[in-house]
Amino acid sequence: MKERIKELLEEIKGLQALNKDDLESLRIKYLSKKGEISSLFNDFRNVSNEQKKEVGQLLNDLKNTAQDKINEIKASLEKKVEETNKLDLTRTPDPIELGTRHPLSIVKTEIADIFGRLGFVIAEGPEVEDDWHVFSALNFPPEHPARDMQDTFFITRDPDVLLRTHTSSVQTRVMTSQEPPIRVLCPGRVYRNEAISYRAHCFFHQVEGLYIDKNVTFADLKQALLYFAKEMFGEGTKIRLRPSYFPFTEPSAEMDISCNLCGGTGCAFCKGTGWVEILGCGMVDPNVLDSCGIDSKVYTGYAFGMGIERITNLKYQVKDLRMFSENDVRFLNQFKSAY
Ligand code: DAH
Repeated sequence: MKERIKELLEEIKGLQALNKDDLESLRIKYLSKKGEISSLFNDFRNVSNEQKKEVGQLLNDLKNTAQDKINEIKASLEKKVEETNKLDLTRTPDPIELGTRHPLSIVKTEIADIFGRLGFVIAEGPEVEDDWHVFSALNFPPEHPARDMQDTFFITRDPDVLLRTHTSSVQTRVMTSQEPPIRVLCPGRVYRNEAISYRAHCFFHQVEGLYIDKNVTFADLKQALLYFAKEMFGEGTKIRLRPSYFPFTEPSAEMDISCNLCGGTGCAFCKGTGWVEILGCGMVDPNVLDSCGIDSKVYTGYAFGMGIERITNLKYQVKDLRMFSENDVRFLNQFKSAY
């Protein structure tokens, strides 16, 4: 008898119920007239007189424990129901915080959109490149300083595997794989071995443009760039082209736009000149066309290349280049945009 009481006591201490029905069946099992505990009380008659006091005590304790346990479960079930009733399922949820696009993505998309209206389509190429696609095919002389370890990150030497230093390498990729007419815009990340500071970084982003067809002239280049400048910086924007040198274009030029901060009257940003440089461009050098398998006697073309950080700085006056790669949400949150 004492053993059975002990067993039941353990069993009762561990009781659980998911709902009222569960609980009711537990009550019936242990506490009803035909329940386990009542049947022990019936057997109590057979307990010897010397043991009656002790066993009686144990039986009463068992009954009280069972009653307390049932009450405890009942209370906790009632509390749960009450809490569920308090839940207001019609309440408007907390607003979802939307992220913002990275400023460089916004500007890249805007550049792609503007040139897209002129018929340019996106082309991409690898960031890990070889010497030929980045330099040789683009008419860089063997002793050109850009080929130097000081400017270029090499992954292996001989064969030269390197991180592209400009997106002009995508020109090579496109020209060797497509027939003219070609009209592509090539955005991407580029790498240079520079000390990191507020105005230089070891990686940044460029957009390259390339147009090759019969009878493409410098006038077409100028018209496309003027359209870009006005769309990007406003209708009143002026451009000027200054003669320059790039191995892969002849003639080559650098393009300035009228300073979009002072409107061309001269300020600290444009160093009092009224102009700010935004890109390099030129007519594709016939050597480049020929080395990529395009007949330079039949086709001509123009190319241009610009830094996305540079354009972004002009649009948003970001003073420190490093902010673009620090992922500080206080900085990034400021760029809400339609793009
Ligand atoms: N690749 C040049 C650079 O990284 C930029 C450039 C200049 C690209 C003139 C061009 C171009 O396509 O015609 O500085």
